[in-house]
Amino acid sequence: MFIVFEGIDGSGKTTQARLLAEHLRRARGIEPLLVREPGGTDLGEKLREILLSSPEDLAPETEVFLFMAARSHLVRTRILPAVREGRVVISDRFIWSTAVYQGTAAGIDPREILRLRKLAAPGLAITRTFLIDVDPESAYRRVRAPNRMEARGLEFQKRLRRGFLALARTRSHGIVLVDGGGSVEQVHRRVLSGLPARGWSCSSP
Ligand code: TYD
Repeated sequence: MFIVFEGIDGSGKTTQARLLAEHLRRARGIEPLLVREPGGTDLGEKLREILLSSPEDLAPETEVFLFMAARSHLVRTRILPAVREGRVVISDRFIWSTAVYQGTAAGIDPREILRLRKLAAPGLAITRTFLIDVDPESAYRRVRAPNRMEARGLEFQKRLRRGFLALARTRSHGIVLVDGGGSVEQVHRRVLSGLPARGWSCSSP
């Protein structure tokens, strides 16, 4: 089972991914693999450093290939082997982030980016995507020490949100739109109510 959390910067999705992992451990005795993008491998962490801190300006097309390179390696070396063993994998961001950050918000046709999925992640089905939706203004206030992406400002965050909501309307990748407002606990309960009912039996490590 492969579960993805998506959302704009400051949406709280990292916290929610962690809380879901803790819930699965505590309540279901399942030990999930929790990964983040970009990152999760030595190569991925090096690419992350470049992507988030490059002093050089990178074209969105260049970024697509770097994010995809990190993803391709993470999928092949960690995600697919775990899913094939029957484990639950939770990823903090996946291909929708590229489709929205480099696509909708930065000017590349998101469909072109989504087409690269077959190359980057062959044979990996997304069981559920939780899109944590928050108002960009309050999310932006939560971002401390902005990275290169976050430094693009509030207008960019607003474009990101529109991009994510447009993707959600396509209803692909088992999308569940989660209202990210309220307390962390309230959002966590909304996530739990959106979990798939079936497919857990063989998920323990
Ligand atoms: P990170 O500090 O992990 O932010 P967050 O906790 O919000 O995920 O930095 C990742 C940044 O990279 C984030 O601003 C989103 C951006 N990003 C892209 O632009 N494209 C992508 O494909 C991915 C995976 C992330």
